[in-house]
Amino acid sequence: MGKSRVRAVLLSAALTMATVGGGSVATGAPATAPILTAGPTSERSVSSSVLPQLAVPTFTSPFVGRVDLLGRDPAGRLFLYKGTGTGGLEDPTQVGTGWGGMTALIGVGDFSGDGYVDLLARDTAGLLWMYRGNGSGRFISGRTQIGHGWGGMTALIGVGDFSGDGYVDLLARDTAGLLWMYRGNGSGRFISGRTQVSGGWEAMTGLVGVGDFDPPSAPAPVNCAVRACVALTFDDGPSAYTNRLLDSLIAMQVPAAFFVVGQQVQARPSTVLRAHQAGFDIENHTYSHPRLTTLSLSGQQAEVRRVDDALVAAGVPRSTLLRPPYGSWNSSTRQLGKPLILWSVDPRDWDGRTASQIRSHVVANTVAGSIVLMHDTVAATVDAVPGIVSDLRARGFTLVTVETLIPNLQPGDVVYSRTNIVRAGSVAALSEEPELLRAPDGTVLGEVVDEARFVPEK
Ligand code: NI
Repeated sequence: MGKSRVRAVLLSAALTMATVGGGSVATGAPATAPILTAGPTSERSVSSSVLPQLAVPTFTSPFVGRVDLLGRDPAGRLFLYKGTGTGGLEDPTQVGTGWGGMTALIGVGDFSGDGYVDLLARDTAGLLWMYRGNGSGRFISGRTQIGHGWGGMTALIGVGDFSGDGYVDLLARDTAGLLWMYRGNGSGRFISGRTQVSGGWEAMTGLVGVGDFDPPSAPAPVNCAVRACVALTFDDGPSAYTNRLLDSLIAMQVPAAFFVVGQQVQARPSTVLRAHQAGFDIENHTYSHPRLTTLSLSGQQAEVRRVDDALVAAGVPRSTLLRPPYGSWNSSTRQLGKPLILWSVDPRDWDGRTASQIRSHVVANTVAGSIVLMHDTVAATVDAVPGIVSDLRARGFTLVTVETLIPNLQPGDVVYSRTNIVRAGSVAALSEEPELLRAPDGTVLGEVVDEARFVPEK
Protein backbone atom coordinates (compact mmCIF):
# COMPACT_ATOMS: atom_id res chain seq x y z
CA MET A 1 0.00 0.00 0.00
CA GLY A 2 0.90 3.61 0.12
CA LYS A 3 1.99 3.97 -3.48
CA SER A 4 -0.09 7.04 -3.89
CA ARG A 5 -1.85 7.35 -0.64
CA VAL A 6 -3.09 10.83 -0.07
CA ARG A 7 -2.68 11.92 3.48
CA ALA A 8 -3.18 15.31 4.86
CA VAL A 9 -1.49 17.29 7.53
CA LEU A 10 -2.25 20.58 9.05
CA LEU A 11 0.06 23.44 8.54
CA SER A 12 -0.31 26.54 10.54
CA ALA A 13 0.09 29.72 8.66
CA ALA A 14 0.84 31.59 11.84
CA LEU A 15 4.51 32.26 12.19
CA THR A 16 4.51 34.14 15.43
CA MET A 17 3.00 31.59 17.76
CA ALA A 18 5.16 30.91 20.75
CA THR A 19 2.98 28.47 22.60
CA VAL A 20 -0.12 26.57 21.80
CA GLY A 21 -2.99 25.82 24.08
CA GLY A 22 -2.98 24.82 27.69
CA GLY A 23 -2.19 21.59 29.41
CA SER A 24 -4.59 19.39 27.52
CA VAL A 25 -3.04 19.33 24.09
CA ALA A 26 -3.95 16.02 22.56
CA THR A 27 -2.03 14.01 20.02
CA GLY A 28 -1.55 15.87 16.81
CA ALA A 29 -1.41 19.40 18.07
CA PRO A 30 1.81 21.25 17.52
CA ALA A 31 4.01 21.11 20.59
CA THR A 32 6.15 24.02 19.55
CA ALA A 33 5.73 27.03 17.39
CA PRO A 34 5.71 26.19 13.72
CA ILE A 35 8.70 27.72 12.01
CA LEU A 36 9.31 28.11 8.32
CA THR A 37 12.90 28.07 7.24
CA ALA A 38 12.36 30.94 4.85
CA GLY A 39 9.58 33.39 4.43
CA PRO A 40 8.53 34.89 1.15
CA THR A 41 11.18 37.31 0.01
CA SER A 42 9.18 38.97 -2.68
CA GLU A 43 5.64 39.18 -3.84
CA ARG A 44 5.07 37.63 -7.17
CA SER A 45 1.88 37.86 -9.09
CA VAL A 46 1.06 34.68 -10.91
CA SER A 47 -1.92 36.14 -12.65
CA SER A 48 -2.57 39.73 -13.42
CA SER A 49 -6.21 40.21 -14.28
CA VAL A 50 -7.98 39.32 -11.03
CA LEU A 51 -6.32 38.92 -7.68
CA PRO A 52 -7.76 35.97 -5.81
CA GLN A 53 -9.15 36.95 -2.46
CA LEU A 54 -9.44 33.37 -1.28
CA ALA A 55 -7.60 30.32 -2.40
CA VAL A 56 -8.98 26.82 -2.20
CA PRO A 57 -6.79 23.81 -2.87
CA THR A 58 -7.68 21.38 -5.57
CA PHE A 59 -10.59 21.90 -7.86
CA THR A 60 -10.01 19.47 -10.66
CA SER A 61 -8.13 16.91 -8.60
CA PRO A 62 -7.75 15.97 -4.96
CA PHE A 63 -4.22 16.91 -4.00
CA VAL A 64 -2.76 15.20 -7.05
CA GLY A 65 -2.18 16.11 -10.65
CA ARG A 66 -2.46 19.70 -11.75
CA VAL A 67 -3.76 21.50 -8.71
CA ASP A 68 -5.99 24.48 -9.31
CA LEU A 69 -7.14 27.46 -7.30
CA LEU A 70 -10.51 29.07 -6.90
CA GLY A 71 -10.67 32.75 -6.11
CA ARG A 72 -13.61 34.87 -4.99
CA ASP A 73 -13.50 38.56 -5.77
CA PRO A 74 -15.15 41.39 -3.81
CA ALA A 75 -18.18 41.21 -6.12
CA GLY A 76 -18.79 37.61 -5.08
CA ARG A 77 -17.68 36.17 -8.40
CA LEU A 78 -15.83 32.86 -8.31
CA PHE A 79 -12.90 32.32 -10.64
CA LEU A 80 -11.06 29.17 -11.56
CA TYR A 81 -7.29 29.48 -11.93
CA LYS A 82 -6.13 26.31 -13.56
CA GLY A 83 -2.70 25.21 -12.47
CA THR A 84 -0.23 24.48 -15.22
CA GLY A 85 1.26 21.67 -13.19
CA THR A 86 4.61 23.41 -13.40
CA GLY A 87 4.18 26.19 -10.89
CA GLY A 88 2.05 28.58 -12.86
CA LEU A 89 -1.56 29.46 -13.29
CA GLU A 90 -3.59 29.98 -16.40
CA ASP A 91 -5.78 33.03 -16.86
CA PRO A 92 -8.90 32.78 -14.74
CA THR A 93 -12.30 31.69 -15.94
CA GLN A 94 -15.38 32.79 -14.10
CA VAL A 95 -17.23 29.78 -12.74
CA GLY A 96 -19.88 31.43 -10.62
CA THR A 97 -21.56 34.51 -9.20
CA GLY A 98 -23.24 35.31 -5.92
CA TRP A 99 -20.68 33.68 -3.69
CA GLY A 100 -20.20 36.84 -1.62
CA GLY A 101 -22.50 35.69 1.17
CA MET A 102 -20.57 32.55 1.87
CA THR A 103 -18.57 32.59 5.08
CA ALA A 104 -16.35 29.70 4.11
CA LEU A 105 -15.28 27.98 0.92
CA ILE A 106 -13.66 24.61 1.38
CA GLY A 107 -11.84 22.47 -1.19
CA VAL A 108 -12.43 18.91 -0.09
CA GLY A 109 -11.51 16.72 -3.02
CA ASP A 110 -14.18 14.28 -4.17
CA PHE A 111 -16.80 14.52 -1.45
CA SER A 112 -19.70 13.19 -3.51
CA GLY A 113 -17.90 10.07 -4.65
CA ASP A 114 -18.54 10.63 -8.34
CA GLY A 115 -14.86 10.83 -9.20
CA TYR A 116 -14.73 14.60 -9.49
CA VAL A 117 -13.68 17.06 -6.85
CA ASP A 118 -16.28 19.24 -5.21
CA LEU A 119 -16.55 22.46 -3.25
CA LEU A 120 -18.21 22.93 0.10
CA ALA A 121 -19.49 26.31 1.24
CA ARG A 122 -21.02 27.65 4.45
CA ASP A 123 -23.60 30.40 4.31
CA THR A 124 -24.39 33.09 6.87
CA ALA A 125 -27.09 30.89 8.42
CA GLY A 126 -24.51 28.20 9.17
CA LEU A 127 -25.81 25.84 6.51
CA LEU A 128 -23.21 23.74 4.75
CA TRP A 129 -23.67 23.16 1.03
CA MET A 130 -22.02 20.84 -1.44
CA TYR A 131 -21.38 22.11 -4.97
CA ARG A 132 -20.37 19.21 -7.17
CA GLY A 133 -17.69 19.70 -9.76
CA ASN A 134 -18.28 18.19 -13.17
CA GLY A 135 -14.66 17.24 -13.71
CA SER A 136 -14.22 19.86 -16.40
CA GLY A 137 -13.85 22.98 -14.32
CA ARG A 138 -17.55 23.69 -13.89
CA PHE A 139 -20.19 22.92 -11.32
CA ILE A 140 -23.04 20.51 -11.82
CA SER A 141 -26.20 22.58 -11.49
CA GLY A 142 -27.99 22.48 -8.21
CA ARG A 143 -26.47 22.18 -4.77
CA THR A 144 -27.02 19.88 -1.83
CA GLN A 145 -27.38 20.91 1.77
CA ILE A 146 -25.22 18.57 3.81
CA GLY A 147 -25.51 20.10 7.25
CA HIS A 148 -26.58 22.92 9.49
CA GLY A 149 -25.28 24.48 12.67
CA TRP A 150 -21.81 25.07 11.28
CA GLY A 151 -21.95 28.80 12.02
CA GLY A 152 -20.01 28.47 15.26
CA MET A 153 -16.99 26.88 13.66
CA THR A 154 -14.03 29.22 13.39
CA ALA A 155 -12.28 27.20 10.72
CA LEU A 156 -13.36 24.60 8.18
CA ILE A 157 -10.54 22.66 6.58
CA GLY A 158 -10.54 20.36 3.58
CA VAL A 159 -7.93 17.72 4.33
CA GLY A 160 -8.57 14.91 1.89
CA ASP A 161 -8.73 11.46 3.48
CA PHE A 162 -7.71 12.31 7.03
CA SER A 163 -9.13 9.16 8.63
CA GLY A 164 -7.48 6.78 6.18
CA ASP A 165 -10.69 5.00 5.19
CA GLY A 166 -10.47 6.00 1.54
CA TYR A 167 -13.06 8.77 1.76
CA VAL A 168 -12.40 12.46 2.11
CA ASP A 169 -13.16 14.17 5.41
CA LEU A 170 -13.62 17.63 6.85
CA LEU A 171 -11.93 19.17 9.89
CA ALA A 172 -13.48 22.00 11.85
CA ARG A 173 -12.29 24.15 14.72
CA ASP A 174 -14.81 25.32 17.29
CA THR A 175 -14.74 28.47 19.39
CA ALA A 176 -12.97 26.61 22.20
CA GLY A 177 -10.10 25.77 19.89
CA LEU A 178 -10.99 22.10 19.62
CA LEU A 179 -10.35 20.46 16.29
CA TRP A 180 -12.97 17.96 15.14
CA MET A 181 -12.98 15.41 12.37
CA TYR A 182 -16.18 14.88 10.40
CA ARG A 183 -15.77 11.79 8.26
CA GLY A 184 -17.24 11.73 4.78
CA ASN A 185 -19.07 8.59 3.74
CA GLY A 186 -17.78 8.67 0.17
CA SER A 187 -21.13 9.63 -1.28
CA GLY A 188 -21.72 13.22 -0.28
CA ARG A 189 -22.73 12.83 3.34
CA PHE A 190 -21.04 12.65 6.71
CA ILE A 191 -20.78 9.55 8.83
CA SER A 192 -22.74 10.35 11.96
CA GLY A 193 -20.76 11.36 14.99
CA ARG A 194 -17.57 13.31 15.06
CA THR A 195 -14.14 12.71 16.52
CA GLN A 196 -12.09 15.20 18.49
CA VAL A 197 -8.66 15.32 16.93
CA SER A 198 -7.00 17.63 19.42
CA GLY A 199 -7.29 20.90 21.28
CA GLY A 200 -5.36 24.09 21.71
CA TRP A 201 -5.89 25.50 18.25
CA GLU A 202 -7.78 28.66 19.21
CA ALA A 203 -4.87 31.02 18.68
CA MET A 204 -4.06 29.90 15.18
CA THR A 205 -4.92 32.48 12.56
CA GLY A 206 -4.82 30.04 9.67
CA LEU A 207 -5.39 26.32 9.29
CA VAL A 208 -4.83 24.73 5.89
CA GLY A 209 -4.99 21.17 4.65
CA VAL A 210 -1.95 20.73 2.45
CA GLY A 211 -1.77 17.04 1.60
CA ASP A 212 1.14 14.95 2.83
CA PHE A 213 3.57 17.67 3.81
CA ASP A 214 5.94 15.33 5.60
CA PRO A 215 5.54 11.90 4.05
CA PRO A 216 7.10 9.05 5.98
CA SER A 217 10.20 7.72 4.39
CA ALA A 218 9.32 4.68 2.37
CA PRO A 219 9.42 1.53 4.47
CA ALA A 220 12.20 -0.85 3.68
CA PRO A 221 11.04 -2.91 0.72
CA VAL A 222 10.11 -6.47 1.45
CA ASN A 223 12.64 -8.87 -0.03
CA CYS A 224 10.62 -11.85 -1.20
CA ALA A 225 13.81 -13.76 -1.85
CA VAL A 226 14.16 -14.16 1.90
CA ARG A 227 10.61 -13.69 3.12
CA ALA A 228 7.64 -15.93 2.40
CA CYS A 229 5.52 -13.58 0.31
CA VAL A 230 2.05 -13.92 -1.17
CA ALA A 231 0.14 -11.62 -3.48
CA LEU A 232 -3.64 -11.36 -3.30
CA THR A 233 -5.43 -10.39 -6.51
CA PHE A 234 -9.08 -9.66 -7.20
CA ASP A 235 -10.68 -9.88 -10.64
CA ASP A 236 -13.70 -8.75 -12.62
CA GLY A 237 -14.68 -5.71 -10.55
CA PRO A 238 -15.33 -3.15 -9.41
CA SER A 239 -18.65 -4.45 -8.16
CA ALA A 240 -21.21 -3.67 -5.49
CA TYR A 241 -19.05 -5.66 -3.04
CA THR A 242 -15.75 -3.94 -3.74
CA ASN A 243 -16.14 -1.14 -1.22
CA ARG A 244 -16.71 -3.64 1.57
CA LEU A 245 -13.60 -5.51 0.49
CA LEU A 246 -11.64 -2.26 0.47
CA ASP A 247 -12.82 -1.55 4.02
CA SER A 248 -11.39 -4.91 5.14
CA LEU A 249 -8.11 -4.60 3.27
CA ILE A 250 -7.54 -1.05 4.50
CA ALA A 251 -8.36 -2.02 8.09
CA MET A 252 -5.90 -4.93 7.94
CA GLN A 253 -3.27 -2.97 5.97
CA VAL A 254 -3.20 -5.53 3.18
CA PRO A 255 -1.85 -4.64 -0.26
CA ALA A 256 -3.66 -6.13 -3.21
CA ALA A 257 -4.08 -5.82 -6.94
CA PHE A 258 -7.45 -5.33 -8.58
CA PHE A 259 -7.63 -6.62 -12.14
CA VAL A 260 -10.56 -4.59 -13.33
CA VAL A 261 -12.85 -4.98 -16.31
CA GLY A 262 -13.23 -1.78 -18.30
CA GLN A 263 -17.01 -1.96 -18.44
CA GLN A 264 -17.10 -2.15 -14.66
CA VAL A 265 -14.74 0.80 -14.31
CA GLN A 266 -17.17 2.86 -16.35
CA ALA A 267 -20.06 1.64 -14.22
CA ARG A 268 -18.32 2.37 -10.90
CA PRO A 269 -15.61 4.97 -11.44
CA SER A 270 -15.70 6.24 -7.87
CA THR A 271 -15.03 2.77 -6.49
CA VAL A 272 -11.96 2.26 -8.61
CA LEU A 273 -10.77 5.76 -7.77
CA ARG A 274 -11.17 5.03 -4.08
CA ALA A 275 -9.15 1.84 -4.45
CA HIS A 276 -6.42 3.72 -6.26
CA GLN A 277 -6.35 6.53 -3.75
CA ALA A 278 -6.13 4.04 -0.91
CA GLY A 279 -2.95 2.72 -2.51
CA PHE A 280 -4.11 -0.44 -4.25
CA ASP A 281 -2.81 -1.48 -7.64
CA ILE A 282 -5.42 -1.11 -10.37
CA GLU A 283 -4.58 -3.44 -13.24
CA ASN A 284 -6.00 -4.57 -16.56
CA HIS A 285 -8.43 -7.47 -17.07
CA THR A 286 -9.65 -6.30 -20.52
CA TYR A 287 -12.61 -4.14 -21.39
CA SER A 288 -15.29 -6.78 -21.95
CA HIS A 289 -13.68 -9.96 -20.60
CA PRO A 290 -13.34 -11.93 -23.84
CA ARG A 291 -11.13 -14.94 -24.38
CA LEU A 292 -8.26 -13.02 -25.95
CA THR A 293 -7.06 -15.96 -28.04
CA THR A 294 -10.20 -15.59 -30.15
CA LEU A 295 -9.14 -12.06 -31.15
CA SER A 296 -6.58 -10.68 -33.59
CA LEU A 297 -3.63 -8.74 -32.25
CA SER A 298 -5.41 -5.45 -32.96
CA GLY A 299 -8.55 -6.77 -31.29
CA GLN A 300 -6.55 -7.69 -28.22
CA GLN A 301 -4.87 -4.29 -28.23
CA ALA A 302 -8.25 -2.55 -28.28
CA GLU A 303 -9.49 -4.61 -25.32
CA VAL A 304 -6.49 -3.54 -23.27
CA ARG A 305 -6.38 0.08 -24.39
CA ARG A 306 -10.03 0.66 -23.61
CA VAL A 307 -9.45 -0.30 -19.98
CA ASP A 308 -6.63 2.18 -19.66
CA ASP A 309 -8.79 4.88 -21.25
CA ALA A 310 -11.56 4.12 -18.76
CA LEU A 311 -9.08 4.28 -15.88
CA VAL A 312 -7.74 7.64 -16.97
CA ALA A 313 -11.30 8.94 -17.30
CA ALA A 314 -11.88 7.80 -13.72
CA GLY A 315 -8.78 9.61 -12.49
CA VAL A 316 -6.66 6.47 -12.15
CA PRO A 317 -3.30 5.89 -13.85
CA ARG A 318 -3.00 3.45 -16.74
CA SER A 319 -2.41 -0.15 -15.78
CA THR A 320 0.99 -1.75 -15.91
CA LEU A 321 -0.06 -5.40 -15.63
CA LEU A 322 -2.51 -7.50 -17.65
CA ARG A 323 -4.45 -10.55 -16.59
CA PRO A 324 -5.99 -12.24 -19.62
CA PRO A 325 -9.52 -13.53 -18.89
CA TYR A 326 -9.77 -17.29 -18.35
CA GLY A 327 -5.96 -17.35 -18.18
CA SER A 328 -6.07 -17.63 -21.95
CA TRP A 329 -3.21 -16.06 -23.90
CA ASN A 330 -1.15 -16.56 -27.04
CA SER A 331 1.81 -14.98 -28.77
CA SER A 332 -0.23 -11.86 -29.61
CA THR A 333 -1.15 -11.41 -25.96
CA ARG A 334 2.55 -11.29 -25.15
CA GLN A 335 2.91 -8.34 -27.55
CA LEU A 336 0.45 -6.09 -25.72
CA GLY A 337 3.16 -4.28 -23.80
CA LYS A 338 2.44 -5.61 -20.35
CA PRO A 339 3.52 -8.58 -18.24
CA LEU A 340 0.78 -11.22 -18.13
CA ILE A 341 -0.11 -12.04 -14.55
CA LEU A 342 -1.74 -15.43 -14.12
CA TRP A 343 -2.06 -17.20 -10.78
CA SER A 344 -1.12 -20.29 -8.83
CA VAL A 345 -3.90 -20.51 -6.25
CA ASP A 346 -7.52 -20.56 -7.42
CA PRO A 347 -10.27 -21.27 -4.89
CA ARG A 348 -12.88 -21.15 -7.69
CA ASP A 349 -14.70 -18.64 -5.55
CA TRP A 350 -17.16 -17.88 -8.34
CA ASP A 351 -18.43 -21.45 -8.31
CA GLY A 352 -20.89 -21.23 -5.42
CA ARG A 353 -18.28 -21.84 -2.72
CA THR A 354 -18.91 -20.69 0.81
CA ALA A 355 -16.64 -18.22 2.53
CA SER A 356 -15.34 -21.04 4.68
CA GLN A 357 -14.49 -23.18 1.62
CA ILE A 358 -12.76 -20.29 -0.09
CA ARG A 359 -10.75 -19.53 3.02
CA SER A 360 -9.63 -23.09 3.60
CA HIS A 361 -8.69 -23.62 -0.05
CA VAL A 362 -6.56 -20.50 -0.19
CA VAL A 363 -4.84 -21.10 3.12
CA ALA A 364 -4.16 -24.79 2.38
CA ASN A 365 -2.74 -24.18 -1.10
CA THR A 366 -0.69 -21.04 -0.61
CA VAL A 367 3.08 -21.41 -0.59
CA ALA A 368 5.86 -18.82 -0.67
CA GLY A 369 5.58 -16.98 -3.96
CA SER A 370 1.92 -17.74 -4.64
CA ILE A 371 -0.37 -15.46 -6.57
CA VAL A 372 -3.91 -15.94 -5.29
CA LEU A 373 -6.83 -15.38 -7.65
CA MET A 374 -10.14 -14.26 -6.20
CA HIS A 375 -13.04 -12.16 -7.41
CA ASP A 376 -14.40 -9.01 -5.79
CA THR A 377 -17.63 -9.76 -7.61
CA VAL A 378 -18.31 -12.62 -5.18
CA ALA A 379 -19.84 -11.79 -1.80
CA ALA A 380 -18.49 -14.97 -0.21
CA THR A 381 -14.97 -13.92 -1.16
CA VAL A 382 -15.40 -10.57 0.53
CA ASP A 383 -16.65 -12.45 3.59
CA ALA A 384 -13.64 -14.78 3.46
CA VAL A 385 -10.86 -12.24 3.08
CA PRO A 386 -10.38 -11.20 6.74
CA GLY A 387 -9.98 -14.84 7.74
CA ILE A 388 -7.66 -15.56 4.82
CA VAL A 389 -5.45 -12.64 5.79
CA SER A 390 -5.25 -13.60 9.44
CA ASP A 391 -4.58 -17.26 8.61
CA LEU A 392 -1.85 -16.44 6.10
CA ARG A 393 -0.19 -14.05 8.50
CA ALA A 394 -0.42 -16.60 11.28
CA ARG A 395 1.49 -18.98 9.02
CA GLY A 396 4.22 -16.43 8.52
CA PHE A 397 3.36 -15.11 5.10
CA THR A 398 3.93 -11.48 4.19
CA LEU A 399 1.25 -10.06 1.93
CA VAL A 400 2.73 -7.99 -0.87
CA THR A 401 1.88 -6.56 -4.26
CA VAL A 402 2.57 -8.53 -7.40
CA GLU A 403 5.44 -6.20 -8.25
CA THR A 404 7.01 -6.69 -4.84
CA LEU A 405 6.56 -10.44 -5.15
CA ILE A 406 8.26 -10.41 -8.54
CA PRO A 407 10.45 -7.37 -9.21
CA ASN A 408 11.58 -6.36 -12.67
CA LEU A 409 8.68 -7.74 -14.63
CA GLN A 410 8.92 -7.13 -18.35
CA PRO A 411 6.25 -6.81 -21.05
CA GLY A 412 5.53 -10.26 -22.41
CA ASP A 413 6.55 -12.11 -19.26
CA VAL A 414 4.01 -14.76 -18.34
CA VAL A 415 3.80 -15.09 -14.57
CA TYR A 416 2.04 -17.83 -12.62
CA SER A 417 3.91 -17.34 -9.36
CA ARG A 418 7.25 -16.03 -8.15
CA THR A 419 8.92 -19.25 -9.21
CA ASN A 420 6.91 -20.05 -12.32
CA ILE A 421 7.59 -17.41 -14.94
CA VAL A 422 7.95 -17.65 -18.70
CA ARG A 423 10.20 -14.74 -19.55
CA ALA A 424 9.46 -12.52 -22.52
CA GLY A 425 11.17 -13.74 -25.66
CA SER A 426 11.54 -17.27 -24.40
CA VAL A 427 9.65 -19.88 -26.33
CA ALA A 428 8.62 -22.19 -23.55
CA ALA A 429 6.37 -25.17 -23.83
CA LEU A 430 3.89 -23.21 -21.78
CA SER A 431 3.34 -20.74 -24.57
CA GLU A 432 1.99 -23.53 -26.70
CA GLU A 433 -0.07 -24.95 -23.86
CA PRO A 434 -1.62 -21.87 -22.37
CA GLU A 435 -4.35 -23.81 -20.61
CA LEU A 436 -2.00 -25.73 -18.34
CA LEU A 437 -0.79 -24.63 -14.97
CA ARG A 438 2.56 -26.02 -13.94
CA ALA A 439 4.36 -26.32 -10.65
CA PRO A 440 7.88 -24.92 -10.40
CA ASP A 441 9.33 -28.35 -11.25
CA GLY A 442 7.27 -28.51 -14.44
CA THR A 443 4.60 -30.79 -13.12
CA VAL A 444 1.25 -30.07 -14.72
CA LEU A 445 -1.03 -29.03 -11.88
CA GLY A 446 -4.12 -28.85 -13.99
CA GLU A 447 -5.99 -26.72 -16.39
CA VAL A 448 -5.86 -22.99 -15.96
CA VAL A 449 -9.40 -21.86 -15.55
CA ASP A 450 -11.08 -18.65 -14.64
CA GLU A 451 -14.54 -19.51 -15.74
CA ALA A 452 -16.41 -17.05 -13.61
CA ARG A 453 -19.45 -16.21 -15.66
CA PHE A 454 -18.95 -12.54 -16.30
CA VAL A 455 -22.09 -10.45 -16.17
CA PRO A 456 -21.51 -6.73 -16.53
CA GLU A 457 -23.21 -4.62 -13.91
CA LYS A 458 -25.26 -1.68 -15.03
NI1 NI B 1 -12.14 -12.69 -15.00
